[in-house]
Amino acid sequence: MTDVLTPVLSRNWDQERAWKLANYERTGGYQGLKKALKSTPADLITLVKDSGLRGRGGAGFPAGMKWSFVPQDNPNPKYLVVNADESEPGTCKDMPLLMASPHTLVEGVIISSYAIGCKYAFIYVRGEVAHVIRRLQQAVREAYSAGYAGKNILGSGYDLEIVVHAGAGAYICGEETALLDSLEGRRGQPRLRPPFPAVAGLYASPTVVNNVETIASVPSIVRDGAAWFSSMGTEKSKGYTLYSLSGHVARPGQFEAPMGITLRTLLELSGGMREGHELKFWTPGGSSTPILTADDMDLPLDYEGMAGAGSMLGTKALQIFDDTTSVVRTTLRWVEFYKHESCGKCTPCREGTWWLVQMLRDFEAGKASEGDIEKMLDICDNIGGRSFCALADGAVACVTSAVKHFRSEFEQGYHTPAWELFPYGRSALF
Ligand code: NAI
Repeated sequence: MTDVLTPVLSRNWDQERAWKLANYERTGGYQGLKKALKSTPADLITLVKDSGLRGRGGAGFPAGMKWSFVPQDNPNPKYLVVNADESEPGTCKDMPLLMASPHTLVEGVIISSYAIGCKYAFIYVRGEVAHVIRRLQQAVREAYSAGYAGKNILGSGYDLEIVVHAGAGAYICGEETALLDSLEGRRGQPRLRPPFPAVAGLYASPTVVNNVETIASVPSIVRDGAAWFSSMGTEKSKGYTLYSLSGHVARPGQFEAPMGITLRTLLELSGGMREGHELKFWTPGGSSTPILTADDMDLPLDYEGMAGAGSMLGTKALQIFDDTTSVVRTTLRWVEFYKHESCGKCTPCREGTWWLVQMLRDFEAGKASEGDIEKMLDICDNIGGRSFCALADGAVACVTSAVKHFRSEFEQGYHTPAWELFPYGRSALF
C-alpha cells in the first residue's frame, strides 16, 4: 500500500538531524542550485512552467506563470516572499517541512530568486512557532557559511540576501497582500487586487509570493526535470504533494503522494477511521474549503476533482470527522475562528461573521427559530464575494456546505415550544 507514496519533500524526515546542512547535502541537497546557476533565469521559468507546478498554498495558481508576470523591465528591485504564515484550521504541512528539512526551502528560495532576478528574499513565518523560526534561521546561516547565499553565490556573480521575518500571530497575515503590509511594518490588512503582487507588491515593487511547499518543490524539479515532475499526478494537477490527515483517523500525519490520490486510499494509509466509527464529513483543504461526505471518498484529490464536487483542494488539510461529531458545533467552532481573525477592514466580514456566530450558537443551544436557516444563508450570501480577501469566502463555505449536506441537524436546533413537548397538547396547558 505504501508504494503509492512518493516521498520527495519528506524523503529525509525520518533521518536523524535531517535539518543539518551536511545531512541535506549527503542526499543530493543543493545539487539543484548548482544546476540552476548554470541555466539562464528565463530557462528556469520555462522549466517550472513546463513542470505544471501549481501553488501549494491553497489556490493552485501556476507557479511558473506567476514568475513570468514579474516585469523584468521594471527598474524597481524584485522580491521573493515565501508565505510561511500557515494558519488555516487543519493545515499543518509547512511547519513539519520546515522543522524536518529547512534546507529544502532555503535551496528553493535561492533558485527561485535567481529565476525572477531578485536580490532580497523574505520568509514570513507565523509568529507562534518560535522553534520553527529558530530552525530556519539556523539553516539560513548554514547556507550563508557554505557560500549558497550572500555575495557571489558559488562564484556565479549572483548575490542574494535572505531574511527570516516572524509575524505576530494574525491569520489575516497569511493573505498575501496583508502579509506584505505586515512586512512593511504596517498593520496587516488586505489590499485591493489588481494590481497583483507580481506587478506591484512589497514596497510597490514586483514581488512573487509563494507558499513554502511550492518553493520547496523547486529544487527537485530543477534536479530531476520537468518531465519527471509532470509524469506524476493528473492531467491538470501535476506532481506530488503533502496531504495532511487529522481528526478521527487511526494514524494522523503527513502523506506525500501524487496529486489525484483519493481519500479512500489515504484513509487506508492512515489506518482507517478510529475503531468502531464511520466517516461523517471531511474537509479537503482546511476549514475554508466546503465540507464533503463519505459519498465523495473516491474523488481525485486534485484541483479539478474537488471543484467538480463543489469544493476546493485548498491546502490539502484533510480534517476527518466521524459519526460522533456534531456538524453544527464544528461549524460554530470554525466560524468563531473566522470572527476572531477577521481584520475588520470590510464590513460584511467584520459584522457578518459576528452575526453567524450568534445564529450558530442558537442552533447549537436549540434556541433557533424556524426560518433561521434561510436567514443564516442570506447572511452568508451577503458576506461571500463582498470583501477584499478570501477570509470572508472561507468563513461562509463551511456554513453553506454544512447546511447543504446536514440540513436536518440544523433543523434540530429549532426551539421547540414547551406545549409541543407536553403530552396532553397546548390546550391542557392554558
Ligand atoms: P487567488 O486565487 O486570488 O490568488 C492565488 C495567487 O495567484 C496569488 O498569489 C495571486 O497574486 C496570484 N494571481 C491570481 N491571479 C493573478 C493574475 N491575474 N496576475 C498575477 N497573479 C495572479 O487566491 P488567494 O486569495 O491568494 O488565496 C486563497 C487561497 O488561500 C484559498 O484557496 C485557501 O485555500 C488558501 N488559504 C491558505 C491558508 C494557509 O494557511 N495556507 C490560509 C487561508 C487560506
